[in-house]
Amino acid sequence: SAASKGGWSSFMAKEIADQPQAVADTLMGRLASDGSVRLSEIDGLTAEDIKNIDRIIMVACGTASYACDVAKYAIEKFARIPVQVELSHEFRYRDPIITANTLIVAVSQSGETMDTLMATRFAKEQGAKVLAICNTQGATLARESDATIYTHAGPEVAVASTKALVAQITAGYLLALFLAAGRNATEQKVLRSLGQELLKMPARVTQVLERLDDVRALGKEMANAKSVLFLGRNVGFPVAMEGALKLKELAYIHAEGFAAGELKHGPIALIEEGQPVIVIVPSPRDSDSLHPKVISNIQEIRARGAKVIAVAEDGDTDVANFAEHVIYVPSCENIFSSILTVIPLQVFALELSSAKGLDVDQPRNLAKSVTVE
Ligand code: G6P
Repeated sequence: SAASKGGWSSFMAKEIADQPQAVADTLMGRLASDGSVRLSEIDGLTAEDIKNIDRIIMVACGTASYACDVAKYAIEKFARIPVQVELSHEFRYRDPIITANTLIVAVSQSGETMDTLMATRFAKEQGAKVLAICNTQGATLARESDATIYTHAGPEVAVASTKALVAQITAGYLLALFLAAGRNATEQKVLRSLGQELLKMPARVTQVLERLDDVRALGKEMANAKSVLFLGRNVGFPVAMEGALKLKELAYIHAEGFAAGELKHGPIALIEEGQPVIVIVPSPRDSDSLHPKVISNIQEIRARGAKVIAVAEDGDTDVANFAEHVIYVPSCENIFSSILTVIPLQVFALELSSAKGLDVDQPRNLAKSVTVE
């Protein structure tokens, strides 16, 4: 096969290391140095179609659905189009409302996930246009969609998705900037500066990969954990969900992701002495000032004995006063931070899984692509 481990201990380790390239290749030819976005592959959707979209429904399963959750934040913020994220199997079987002005965005690494194909076919029958975000050239999903934005992550072999996810997230950001420009929803000057920020992400992903020793050590140390909780806000929320999913998939540890704002509505009851909680901390520079809210969440769970591991931005010295461990990632526009903060969580799950002596590439009971219902 075209894919080889190339000296890495597992395909997953290699694919994690491939992520700067996956992001760069997904941006290549689409994002100019002035920060403007061109998506020639979606010419199948006319300027008129784009103006007429009144709602976007994103459908996906598993890890790909978290890429949709991230895209929702970016598309709504910049393009001002309402976005609904749906698990393909839930969407398909509940008589959803779809019109000719609904754009379906189906996200799938393989392009063969049966539920996502079924959701897409169903939406097409109702008259919706379908845009695929897909990593596999010529996949069924791509063939059946009106247009496809290919993610260029390269072949992904490990069952648990890593580089395909960051490529999907990258494509989602590109789509958000593209739609925002096409609909004049955000000032062009602002969009171009966001585009320029996005161009810097591959180098920042490389920086994240260069400083993972602490996460590796933590993963090994925590091999006996019975349960790990993940908290995040804004784009950190889907990252928290993904961190939990990775731990279930790879290490067979009970894990749950929560929106940090939900803490008081239930999850805080789970906190007891020694409970590990991984918190994705928003940038202190964020204008929505979510940072102090998350810091106060950390204080609340700390006071109840939680062992807090924070993933925070460089320069966030505040958080160090409250968390047991801080994993720093380079600073960037908060909306783009998901590409960086998800990586330590992937590595954490991989290390924990290997420390338990498990097969990280082929976790029990799971398939790379679920082609049956
Ligand atoms: C399976 C894989 C996951 C993947 C999901 C969706 O569950 O184990 O890693 O996220 O399918 O796959 P897709 O190919 O549609 O992205």
